[in-house]
Amino acid sequence: MNDTYRTLEVRPLSRALGAEIGGVDIAAGIGDGQFAELQQAFADHGVIFLRDQDITPAQHLAFAERWGSINVNRFFRASDADPRIAEVLKEPHQRANIGSQWHTDHSYDQIPAMGSILYAREVPRVGGDTLFASMYAAWDPLSDGMKAMLLGLRAWHSSRHAFGEAAYVDTDPEDLGGRLGNTAAATQDALHPVAIRHPLSGRTALYVNGDFTLRFDGWSEEESRPLLDYLFAHATRPEFTCRFRWRQGSLAIWDNRATQHLALNDYHGERRLMHRITIDGVALDAAAA
Ligand code: SIN
Repeated sequence: MNDTYRTLEVRPLSRALGAEIGGVDIAAGIGDGQFAELQQAFADHGVIFLRDQDITPAQHLAFAERWGSINVNRFFRASDADPRIAEVLKEPHQRANIGSQWHTDHSYDQIPAMGSILYAREVPRVGGDTLFASMYAAWDPLSDGMKAMLLGLRAWHSSRHAFGEAAYVDTDPEDLGGRLGNTAAATQDALHPVAIRHPLSGRTALYVNGDFTLRFDGWSEEESRPLLDYLFAHATRPEFTCRFRWRQGSLAIWDNRATQHLALNDYHGERRLMHRITIDGVALDAAAA
């Protein structure tokens, strides 16, 4: 943990991860020194949150580009403002939300996204919080025996079952409302270490998630399921999480390699519109045995 922030107020949200950051105004401009502090806070806490940001889509994009190149989502409807901004939307009449299971964005890509920058444009009066879980916190307390086994494993992640045609067989098209689509593009399969060496911190993080991870390499899906189910449940134990309550103008920046997240769907009858920009990452290396 770094306690040498000069321009930021950093308030941790839980012991495991997450911090609210004060002293930042994206619209007014962020100098290189302050941006370096933001990067440090991101590395220290896995996910950071800013409040009361009044930004245009162009300012959101410009801020995102300071973190890396933009990774355009293939499956979410794009904002009318710019095709590089994905909409995470639920209308008052819709029942399903986007991201309602614990997941790590884009782990189906062989070079998975570094993270996302989510900006709240419209939020319900109450509800629609997002939960985050630390994959360092999930890794550390595993037994030596479990760690030794996981360090030797890689797992397959896929977009096919999550965003392909089959994903929507039980979905009411009216409820979906065109928020997700492009099913023909859901062709990604990726193989990643189950225990990764985090590219920024060098720490070991657990890297499997319930939305996209299907099986261990060399194992059948049936053989993999009990251990994957154990890891999915373990990874999201309450003590490894934090919960963020959005207000209009809140902004979150999360690290997909160090965290998972889940969008709560508890606000039927109200609108929630978020703008998400995802940032390119790097190929993931296995943690050292
Ligand atoms: C997502 O999974 O990227 C969306 C998270 C949210 O809407 O809170």
